[in-house]
Amino acid sequence: MNNLKAFLDAVGYADLCGSFFPGAPRLEVWRGVDKNLTDKRLRRFYSLLLTGTKVATAEFEPGEMEILEPLIQKNVLIRKHDCLYSNGLSLYMVMGYWLFFETPNVNPKVYYGDDSFGLVSRLRPVRGGATLDLCAGPGVQSLISSAIASRVVSIEINPYAAAIAELNCDINGIDNWEIRVGDLYDALPPDAVFDHVVCNPPLLPFPDDELYPFVGHGGIDGWSVAWRVLEGLPRFLSRKGLAQIIGTTLSDGVEPMILERLGAWAKTEKMDCDLTVIVQKALDRESEYFKGLVYSASAMGDNSESNLSDSYARMLSETNMNALVTHSLSVRHGSGQVKVTDLFNKSVSSGSLWYV
Ligand SMILES: C[S@@+](CC[C@H](N)C(=O)[O-])C[C@H]1O[C@@H](n2cnc3c(N)ncnc32)[C@H](O)[C@@H]1O
Repeated sequence: MNNLKAFLDAVGYADLCGSFFPGAPRLEVWRGVDKNLTDKRLRRFYSLLLTGTKVATAEFEPGEMEILEPLIQKNVLIRKHDCLYSNGLSLYMVMGYWLFFETPNVNPKVYYGDDSFGLVSRLRPVRGGATLDLCAGPGVQSLISSAIASRVVSIEINPYAAAIAELNCDINGIDNWEIRVGDLYDALPPDAVFDHVVCNPPLLPFPDDELYPFVGHGGIDGWSVAWRVLEGLPRFLSRKGLAQIIGTTLSDGVEPMILERLGAWAKTEKMDCDLTVIVQKALDRESEYFKGLVYSASAMGDNSESNLSDSYARMLSETNMNALVTHSLSVRHGSGQVKVTDLFNKSVSSGSLWYV
């Protein structure tokens, strides 16, 4: 792997990745620079490792094939019929770390997206402390935390995503990161305690009884996994520790739908919560986000767009909600206070879901 990293650095692949905004990984944007890559060597590695395009093995020099051999052995690359192609993964660089994840598509199982970076850019690991990364996927938050924390444990329910996290651990040469396969805290010893708990859960509000890509289905309020993450915090977060969870939920345009339940939980468990509402987007049949959510669900092939639109509209009407809000949540042991800071202001909207 060290040879591969040095090689990718030397051919300009790292520089190329660094020129794409890490908070918006978009296949069409990567593909859009295809014609600008006049260096043939850079172009074949960009095709193979970033955009998922087949490249004839004859195009690679023998030394290059040797460098790629570990990825062929690990089944990340497939050699077939004189061609080399990626097994659905892209290799990207985020904040100086190499990251394999699934080439962007509507139903990724090994996810890295805008929300991933939304959490990355907010991370506050404790120097020398222990970080727990729940719902780790390919592990970007673990990677970034590993530079500051003395120990990182990540938990991921999908064994394939966890295997890609192992690959990311390996390619970056990280020695303080442990990856466990399991369902949230069940994968930990009961006496484990962490100074920093981070989580980017499946976070999109969607009717419970409709299929939606697993990495994104957050149930009606978008918090079906987040509530379970909160449940374990009183026990697994150290007395002075900080938990950081990113998410979305429904809103009636005034108040996020999870607020009452969050307040009750905080009071009972004596946990202090800082909820920052970042952006609000209208949700009605004509709105971009309504259509986007329905489109992603329809790609599951179980239901038509028109049925899914009806189902989503019914959910909104039954809950009296009309908007999607994005938020970050910080949680600490305390007296049970919930503080809400609502930054949403149409006139200063950045266009992004995760930043003002
Ligand atoms: C939105 S993705 C986040 C992945 C990664 N942390 C990131 O931000 O790029 C959510 C991840 O949670 C995992 N997941 C869902 N339910 C889980 C559970 N109960 N326990 C552990 N992981 C879970 C999914 O497989 C998926 O990889």
